[in-house]
Amino acid sequence: MIKLENISKVYRTKEIETLALDNINCDVSEGEFVSVMGPSGCGKSTLLNIIGLLDEPDEGKIALNKELIMSYEDKKTAKMRNQLVGFIFQSFHLIKELNVYDNVELPLIYRKMPASERKQRVTEALEKVGLTNRMQHYPSQLSGGQCQRTAIARAIAGEPKIILADEPTGNLDSKIGHEVVDILAGLNDNGTTIVMVTHDEAIAKSTHRIVRLFDGRLVG
Ligand SMILES: Nc1ncnc2c1ncn2[C@@H]1O[C@H](COP(=O)(O)OP(=O)(O)O)[C@@H](O)[C@H]1O
Ligand SMILES: [Mg+2]
Repeated sequence: MIKLENISKVYRTKEIETLALDNINCDVSEGEFVSVMGPSGCGKSTLLNIIGLLDEPDEGKIALNKELIMSYEDKKTAKMRNQLVGFIFQSFHLIKELNVYDNVELPLIYRKMPASERKQRVTEALEKVGLTNRMQHYPSQLSGGQCQRTAIARAIAGEPKIILADEPTGNLDSKIGHEVVDILAGLNDNGTTIVMVTHDEAIAKSTHRIVRLFDGRLVG
């Protein structure tokens, strides 16, 4: 489902060059649930952004769903970015002026999906994360766990084949964090491929495989 070949990424600022990823080779099969671990600054978010086509590598090749990415500007790549991949972030990235329902619906509006289909997708996604009774709430009226469940609903409403989660439990206490990972595991049971960055060994051990990064390189 995800194939990375000799991926390198350098960040250049006026002062310094940072080799964020150094010749990464990695395959993730369809239906896998993979954890990415490693110290702060080792390149985990960069790796996720590259897999999600949010960021372009300096070197190497990436293929998603058996399609080699040839250009970062063409319509086909934009469509893959929007429809193949769902993102979940540590700090939820919800829009505070929109209620739960509207946050989940927004990406579907960008996709120009018809209203009736949007309604069905949003309703189903909120059911899956157990938030049907909070649809009219605004993010400021939700707990951290509920915010993250809203973000998961937003990611899955688009029915992505791949979910990329960057420290999804990083702002949650341990019990709520495990509940969020249980939701992800349920999505994985239904066939969604998941790559999740986490600092929590117990959570990582509950996934199929742990990939470890150190200074931009895969180790172990
Ligand atoms: N936009 C950027 N500009 C310059 N350096 C960056 C940028 N983003 C990340 N880096 C650097 O690249 C390295 C990897 O960062 P990141 O992927 O965010 O690590 P992690 O998610 O593992 O903490 C770090 O040294 C970081 O400082
Ligand atoms: Mg990070």
